[in-house]
Amino acid sequence: MATEQAIGIDIGGTGIKGAIVDLATGELASERTKVRTPKGGRPADILDATRDLLDQLDERGRTKLPLGVCFPAVVKHGRTLSAANISEEWIGLPAEELFEQELGREIHFINDADAAGYAESRYGAAVGAEGLVILTTLGTGIGSAFLYDGVLVPNTELGHMEVDGVGAETRAAYSAMEREELGWDEWATRLQRFYAMVEFLFSPDLFVVGGGVSKHHEHFLPLLDLKTPIVPAVHRNNAGILGAASLAAH
Ligand code: BGC
Repeated sequence: MATEQAIGIDIGGTGIKGAIVDLATGELASERTKVRTPKGGRPADILDATRDLLDQLDERGRTKLPLGVCFPAVVKHGRTLSAANISEEWIGLPAEELFEQELGREIHFINDADAAGYAESRYGAAVGAEGLVILTTLGTGIGSAFLYDGVLVPNTELGHMEVDGVGAETRAAYSAMEREELGWDEWATRLQRFYAMVEFLFSPDLFVVGGGVSKHHEHFLPLLDLKTPIVPAVHRNNAGILGAASLAAH
């Protein structure tokens, strides 16, 4: 029996990664390929880099498998509407249409945290979870995804919620910890303010924490005092790829 597959591409501030995904298992069906995000993160340059990456994927990658692309911005009806950590040329751009025209294939363009959240709900930490699951990714920014009984409510952007008068990601993203050389407990104090506010506003049933730093969850998750269970993501750096591929196919 032929396995159903799709390609996922995750465009980030430093790298663009992609792979072919086995949709039944959520495992990668090819090597993960990565190219550097061009300096400035402008649409035309990112498009060229994405084309290179697709060419590097094997033969099947260049055929017409469904292709999902996730990106660190609000994406509504295929248009990128924000640009927090990427070139402002993306604001208002019909990105999905542009990529489809230039790459000559159908594409599903979505927010990166939404892709990661969908991946965790289908193949990871939130499989079978009932009620409201909120996934947050802690990286350069803070991304968020809401899933209610497994159904994605896109473009939630909790990283831009104001906490103590400042956009949450400015103080509590992993990049803030690095930039300000915070210790785990100092960073956890900021995370506590953020998650407590999100918990108060949305009463979730489960928090899932993604992003590369979730690999070190034992240093900061136990420091948080919340009523809601909070668990690390399973897929971390591959979650965007898995979710983008999976959403493209469904
Ligand atoms: C962006 C989000 C994105 C998150 C993680 C934020 O700055 O506004 O759209 O999901 O970073 O990349």
